[in-house]
Amino acid sequence: MSSYTHPFEIRTEETLRMLSDTGQYKTLQVLESPMDASVRIRHSDGSSRQVLCFCSNNYLGLANEPRVVEAGIAALRKYGAGTASVRFICGTFEPHEHLEHTIAEYMGTSSSYSFVSCWTATEALFPTFCEAGDIIISDELNHACIIDAIRLTPIIKKGVKKTVYKHADMQSLRDRLREAASDPEVTGQIWVVTDGVFSMEGDIANLPALRHLCDEFNAMLVVDDSHGHGVMGRTGRGTHEHYGLIGRNDIGNVDVFTGTLGKALGGAAGGFIAGTNEMTDLLIQRARPTLFSNALPVTVAASAAKAIEIVMDEPERVTRLKNNVETAREKIARAGFEVISSPTAICPIIVGETAQAIRMSKRLLELGVFVIGFGYPVVPEGTARLRIQLSAAHTDEHISTLVDALKKL
Ligand SMILES: Cc1ncc(COP(=O)(O)O)c(C=O)c1O
Repeated sequence: MSSYTHPFEIRTEETLRMLSDTGQYKTLQVLESPMDASVRIRHSDGSSRQVLCFCSNNYLGLANEPRVVEAGIAALRKYGAGTASVRFICGTFEPHEHLEHTIAEYMGTSSSYSFVSCWTATEALFPTFCEAGDIIISDELNHACIIDAIRLTPIIKKGVKKTVYKHADMQSLRDRLREAASDPEVTGQIWVVTDGVFSMEGDIANLPALRHLCDEFNAMLVVDDSHGHGVMGRTGRGTHEHYGLIGRNDIGNVDVFTGTLGKALGGAAGGFIAGTNEMTDLLIQRARPTLFSNALPVTVAASAAKAIEIVMDEPERVTRLKNNVETAREKIARAGFEVISSPTAICPIIVGETAQAIRMSKRLLELGVFVIGFGYPVVPEGTARLRIQLSAAHTDEHISTLVDALKKL
C-alpha cells in the first residue's frame, strides 16, 4: 500500500517500481575524467575504474582536445561566466558571431544561428518557419527532438498539418507528398524532414532521392545531421558531403540543416540551424527559444568554433574515424554479431529485450568496456540494442579489446 496521497506521487512510485521489476531501470554513470577514448567511471560503492568508452558521441576526439579546452578558458576569462541576457537584448557576444560564421563556412550555407542545443534549435525551426496551410512530412525514425517539435508546431501555429512516412521508404514519402499536394487544406509550404544519420540504426538518409522528390513537389528539405557532422563525407561536413550535395549543383541542395555541437563538434553542448540569411533573420525576429531564453554560454561557443576550425583544418581526423569504423564493423561481424554495413560511426547490435541489453551492457562494463544498452522507449519494443560508437580517438588495440569483450558475452 502506497504511503503517498497525491496522484502524481502514487503513479510515479508505480512507474519506477515497474521499471525496476522489469530490468529497465537506468542508473547514471558518473565520470571522474574528461570524455575520451578511455574514461574513469565512479561505481556506486565510491570506487572508480578506467574503462574504454564506446558509447560517447565524441566522434573526432575533440571533447578533450587541448586547443578546444583552451579556447573555452580564454573566452571565460575575456567574457565572464554568463550572457545574463537573451540574444536580442544584450546577450549576443563576439564568440556567438564567430561561431555562426564558422558553422556557415563549415556547412557551405550562407548563414547559421546557434541555440543551447539541437533540441532547442529544432523546436525553434518548425514553429517559426511554418504557417497555417503548411504540412510537415517526417521519417518515422527521426530523432525525438523532431517528433516533439512537430507535435508542438500546430499548437503554436494553428493549421499546420503533419504526417509520417515509413523509414527511408521513398514510395511512402511519394504517397504522402501526393496526398499533401491534393489536400485542399495544404495551401502553403510542404516540408520534408529527415535525420541525415539515424541515431539508433546508424543508417543514412538517401538525400539525392529526397531532393528529387522535394523538387517534384516544391517541398523544402530539412536535414538534422547531428550524427553526420564530423563523420560523413571526405572532410566530415556531413551526409550532404557524402552525397556530393555541398553547395548548389545539378541535384540541388539541402534547404536547411539542424545540427548539434554536443557530439563531434567539441562535444560540450549547443545546436544550430544553417541555411539562408533570411532564415537566420526570421529566427532572430520570431523564434521563441531565442527570444525568451538565454544564448549558448560564450565559453561553449568559443570551444565549439575552435573544434569546427580543427575539423576543417585536419581532415585526417575524419579519415582516422572512417578507418576505425571499417575495422570495428569487420571485426564485430567476424566475431559472429550481425552489423549493418554503413559508413556511420554508430554500430548497433540488436539483442531484442530491454532487460537483455541492460544485462549485456553491465557485463561489458565488468570487462572494462563501456557500451550502453538502449531499450524502450528510446527504441521500439523488442528491438533493444547495444549501441557501439566509434571515435577517431580509439586505437586498433582499443577496438580489439572491445571485440574480445563482445566475444565473452
Ligand atoms: C539526430 C539528433 N538530433 C538532435 C539531437 C539532440 O542534440 P542536442 O543534445 O544538441 O539537443 C540528437 C542527440 O541525441 C540527435 O541524435
